[in-house]
Amino acid sequence: MGGEKFRFLFWVSSISSLICLCYGYVPVNNYLINCGSPTNLTETGRVFISDKLASNHLTSPNEILAAASNRNSVPDIYQTARIFTGISKYTFSVARGRHWIRLHFSPFQYQNFQMTSAKFSVSSQTHVLLSDFTAKSKLMKEYSLNLTTDRLELTFTPSANSFAFVNALEVVSVPDTLISIDPSIAGRPGTFQGLSRQALETVYRVNMGGPRVTPNNDTLSRIWEPDSEFLIEKNLVKIVSKISSVVYVPGYATEETAPRNVYGTCSEINSGDNPTSSFNATWDFEVEAGFKYFLRFHFCDIVSRALNELYFNLYVDSMMVVQDLDLSSYLSNTLSGAYFMDYVTESAKVSNRIRVSIGPSVTVRTTYPKAILNGLEIMKMNNSKSQLSTGTFLSGASSSTRKKNVGMIVGVTVGCLIALVAFGGFLILFKKRGKGKDGHHSKSWIPLSTTNGTTTPDSNVTTTSNSSYRIPLAAIKEATNSFDESRVIGVGGFGKVYKGALQDGTKVAVKRGNPKSQQGLAEFRTEIEMLSQFRHRHLVSLIGYCDESSEMILVYEYMENGTLKSHLYGSNLPTLSWKQRLEICIGSARGLHYLHTGDSKPVIHRDVKSANILLDEKLMAKVADFGLSKTGPDLDQTHVSTAVKGSFGYLDPEYFRRQQLTEKSDVYSFGVVMFEVLCARPVIDPTLPREMVNLAEWAMKWQKKGQLEEVIDQSLKGKIVADSLRKFGETVEKCLADYGVDRPSMGDVLWNLEYALQLQEPVVVDGDDDDDDNSTNMIGELPLRFNDYNKNHGGGETSVNVSGDGKGRFEEEDSSVGDDVSGVSMSQVFSQLVKSEGR
Ligand SMILES: *[C@@H]1O[C@H](CO)[C@@H](O)[C@H](O)[C@H]1NC(C)=O
Ligand SMILES: *[C@@H]1O[C@H](CO)[C@@H](O)[C@H](O)[C@H]1NC(C)=O
Ligand SMILES: *[C@@H]1O[C@H](CO)[C@@H](O)[C@H](O)[C@H]1NC(C)=O
Ligand SMILES: *[C@@H]1O[C@H](CO)[C@@H](O)[C@H](O)[C@H]1NC(C)=O
Ligand SMILES: *[C@@H]1O[C@H](CO)[C@@H](O)[C@H](O)[C@H]1NC(C)=O
Repeated sequence: MGGEKFRFLFWVSSISSLICLCYGYVPVNNYLINCGSPTNLTETGRVFISDKLASNHLTSPNEILAAASNRNSVPDIYQTARIFTGISKYTFSVARGRHWIRLHFSPFQYQNFQMTSAKFSVSSQTHVLLSDFTAKSKLMKEYSLNLTTDRLELTFTPSANSFAFVNALEVVSVPDTLISIDPSIAGRPGTFQGLSRQALETVYRVNMGGPRVTPNNDTLSRIWEPDSEFLIEKNLVKIVSKISSVVYVPGYATEETAPRNVYGTCSEINSGDNPTSSFNATWDFEVEAGFKYFLRFHFCDIVSRALNELYFNLYVDSMMVVQDLDLSSYLSNTLSGAYFMDYVTESAKVSNRIRVSIGPSVTVRTTYPKAILNGLEIMKMNNSKSQLSTGTFLSGASSSTRKKNVGMIVGVTVGCLIALVAFGGFLILFKKRGKGKDGHHSKSWIPLSTTNGTTTPDSNVTTTSNSSYRIPLAAIKEATNSFDESRVIGVGGFGKVYKGALQDGTKVAVKRGNPKSQQGLAEFRTEIEMLSQFRHRHLVSLIGYCDESSEMILVYEYMENGTLKSHLYGSNLPTLSWKQRLEICIGSARGLHYLHTGDSKPVIHRDVKSANILLDEKLMAKVADFGLSKTGPDLDQTHVSTAVKGSFGYLDPEYFRRQQLTEKSDVYSFGVVMFEVLCARPVIDPTLPREMVNLAEWAMKWQKKGQLEEVIDQSLKGKIVADSLRKFGETVEKCLADYGVDRPSMGDVLWNLEYALQLQEPVVVDGDDDDDDNSTNMIGELPLRFNDYNKNHGGGETSVNVSGDGKGRFEEEDSSVGDDVSGVSMSQVFSQLVKSEGR
């Protein structure tokens, strides 16, 4: 967060040639297409035309019109879809200038086409809008592009072995002045150049302090969502509504900029009429990292009774972007004048959050401290390759609060929650006429079982086995050059791991099980089962599997940066900063927290270790390897003979002693990982003096002495804020408590880690877990993964089976594995372990 700088873009202080407020804006181009339908359809006063009637717009190799059979609700644009089995194009003749392109998706099953598994890309002549996109449920995506030719071509390109679909689409002119570069820059240096060439994707459009605003109350048919679910501390603000007092001052914002319903409500700092109170209110938005964002703030001082009562500061990701903002002075001394400001993040976001805060001015004294925000739009900007999507975003947002809106928001989708949040209203609008029950999104998306993620629970075909995740052996051979030895990137107990690329270019990690291993078969099944039920941005996900010719092959997306372990020691990779390490811990803690609190049964991972935490190209952590995981904490209580499994050095001593498996065993192992992260050394290193061999014991001694800083990674010396280290140390200490009951839950660990991060790099007011708390099934697309990367990455962990009598007979499950500690024989390690396990 702190890393990204925000650059003051411009105040749009004068909108010269503005369309008048009188009777709304009439778009020059207004194409509304009801795809796949033979008839026109009127939705909230707008006519969506059949794309058969508009067929001159479309070129497609063959024509497949799909109608949902069992959706017997009132027809709407989501009842039909057009399916594309080859590259297809909609062509529109357009006036030059900025246009909205809105794509509506609501997958259902039609004949053999299960739209929830369709994977495809959508682009214009100039920009990639969606790439390798899958819609798991109903959603709308909104883009705005400045078209510079007289024709707009929207190309739908199915990914390899898949198809594309769309339920409805809109191409509508945007008023020229809505998003235009106004060169008047207030104060700060650094204008953003080239906004006119910039494609934007609306990710949030929020009405602070007010209800959802729907298209019929917005002259440009937009949706504005309420802000409460983004507020970090809801009780720090109060809601103010004075819609009738809004004034559109000529030359400033207009009704097109944002409607009265948006300007006329705000969230105001709730200072409780205490003249000395001082705090910020903060909104938190999840976004896709790797892109720049354009932020538009809407203000209207409906809280003051007179001029000069309101002076406040505006921050984005803790950076002050405007100090002592005095709205009336910008608006020629008009109170309650509508006003807006635009910002662009200076560089691509590193984190996946944007936090916006307001707080009273500290330099200008007023009777009561106040600060307001009326509306906010957040738009993703295309990257330098003109893409708005790289096909790697595993949808993010997730908070439980959002789930509450399910009725409106209709469901979660690959990479689209954001858009959903912003546009849920749209959907609703249409949905209301239907039955409005689309909260469903399934968690199962692969073989074994499926209640597919379609939004048509009433459709009778959704339970067909989801064989689309079964990948033919031939395709896997092609991807790995017939399991070419040079492609091996890891060897584990399960078998070898190959790097490969599917036909469509997706990089994958292919884990090929050793068919002889019975153990392997069980783990193969567990892994598929687990990963098919649990989808989360911090869990690696499976692309598919293959069980042809008694093969046991799992295909995951490739994790660019390998294991966490390889970044800590045993390789030449650059060292990670403390902040990066904390973020990685936070990410993996989220993944585990999600597993432990899943809505059905908690899942215990059982093999938490740094080699099972993988990092994507942005160093985002994902927990991998579910081969040993178990549902339900009681399994091992009833089956005490079950072998104790896990990895040495990480094994919970209580589990070891009593063979009672609970989530707290994962917490223990995670504590060990935290020490590993801090000290950057193997968890067991028999080459060291005896008291240092076992990392957990050794580091714990220093923690208890209050001298943890003595044993931290050299490269972190002097770089960790003392409080942050203290918090971290205390948290590990609790995780490593002898008894499970004394250990915190993963949720607490997560909270503490976030707090430690804030102590390191103060960000915003509060360290609440704003993200994945008991969230569930993320959706998403393609993360990747696999474990046991070790070969090239400095040695791997060895998984062992400990027989259930707890007496410490170890059987090496994995003889092929490289030693964890190079140059030390496994037997040495084992004997050390047997001793140290005696605790
Ligand atoms: C559908 O709308 C188009 C464009 O307005 C019109 O030309 C056509 O006649 C309409 N078709 C029907 C069946 O109403
Ligand atoms: C669109 O691009 C053209 C050519 O670059 C430019 O002249 C025009 O001002 C742009 N329009 C908007 C609304 O940005
Ligand atoms: C939205 O517009 C309708 C009329 O179109 C009006 O009755 C309703 O009050 C408006 N809603 C709000 C929140 O202003
Ligand atoms: C508000 O947030 C900013 C940025 O994080 C911080 O610098 C400032 O001290 C905060 N103000 C208050 C009153 O907490
Ligand atoms: C977005 O794409 C345009 C070309 O279509 C390019 O000129 C511009 O630099 C891109 N924006 C960014 C931030 O790279």
